Amino acid sequence: MALVTFSNPEYKDKTVYAVAGSHTESLLKLAKEHKIPVHHDCQDGECGNCVVRVTSVDNKARMGYHLTEKEQTVLRHLGKLTKDQIDQLAVDDMPSEWRLACQMIVRDEDILVEY
Ligand code: FES
Repeated sequence: MALVTFSNPEYKDKTVYAVAGSHTESLLKLAKEHKIPVHHDCQDGECGNCVVRVTSVDNKARMGYHLTEKEQTVLRHLGKLTKDQIDQLAVDDMPSEWRLACQMIVRDEDILVEY
């Protein structure tokens, strides 16, 4: 069970439980289930509207995750990551703090999501 805290300066923070490991529970799906107004449009990793910043809530090392080609392209286009940063994350086996909520699968770690 993961604890996911959604934070936005315009709303009160909301922390929800997520059943991690289903491989189908995207961060956007979780937000929608809990009526958290994360912007979105295509829901397919194309538009970039659902970009969020994801960090650890307890300063624990986050699990490594490789961005898909589609997500890399959109995050680079949005100016969130450079190609060098993406390459370094892959070398270091580290997750990106910038993610697309519709592409990020929730895993068994407690995270803060700024949207
Ligand atoms: Fe379009 Fe996520 S909703 S990239």
